[in-house]
Amino acid sequence: MNLSIIQLGKMHLNACIDLDKKSLKGLWTKSQWERELIDPKRICLGVIDLEKKELLGLTSSWLIMDELHITSIAVDPKHQRKGLGKLLMKDLIKRSKSLQINLIHLEVKDTNKKAIALYTSMGFKVIGNRSKFYKDESNALIFTKELNKS
Ligand SMILES: CC(C)(COP(=O)(O)OP(=O)(O)OC[C@H]1O[C@@H](n2cnc3c(N)ncnc32)[C@H](O)[C@@H]1OP(=O)(O)O)[C@@H](O)C(=O)NCCC(=O)NCCS
Repeated sequence: MNLSIIQLGKMHLNACIDLDKKSLKGLWTKSQWERELIDPKRICLGVIDLEKKELLGLTSSWLIMDELHITSIAVDPKHQRKGLGKLLMKDLIKRSKSLQINLIHLEVKDTNKKAIALYTSMGFKVIGNRSKFYKDESNALIFTKELNKS
């Protein structure tokens, strides 16, 4: 596969919505995705199959002063466990360093073993939890990564 990581824009709206449905069970509405894609304080990256012109994975995050809050990461179920999640995270960390970000944080369901394994493999540490954080009342783990320590 010939892959490229790009900053996603409004032209990728439908592809983001499709991937969200497939991998995140429809996390955000169309207008929420539109905002992710146009707000300059948000970083939305995608991994693209250049031959098929297909969006295989994405991650979205918010810039808050010198911190980055990752709000979503998703890889097409057909392409999971091929290193794409790691590729996206590595690129996001590289971009964060060049933007002088000191801390990256995120929340994840405490039952989401795949995502927890991904974040742990990227050097993220659990610093706390939020009880009944999600709509279905499941709990969240809070992960952080300090960039000046890596
Ligand atoms: C979480 C997710 C993004 C990982 O993406 P991925 O491309 O499949 O992950 P990678 O292939 O890059 O794997 C990176 C590491 O994560 C861990 N991992 C990923 N999938 C795993 C699985 N099924 N079981 C155990 N560990 C897993 C491993 O440590 C893996 O490293 P390794 O293959 O060298 O052992 C993907 O599973 C996904 O889209 N899940 C649904 C959406 C979701 O839950 N997003 C997170 C919450 S917002």
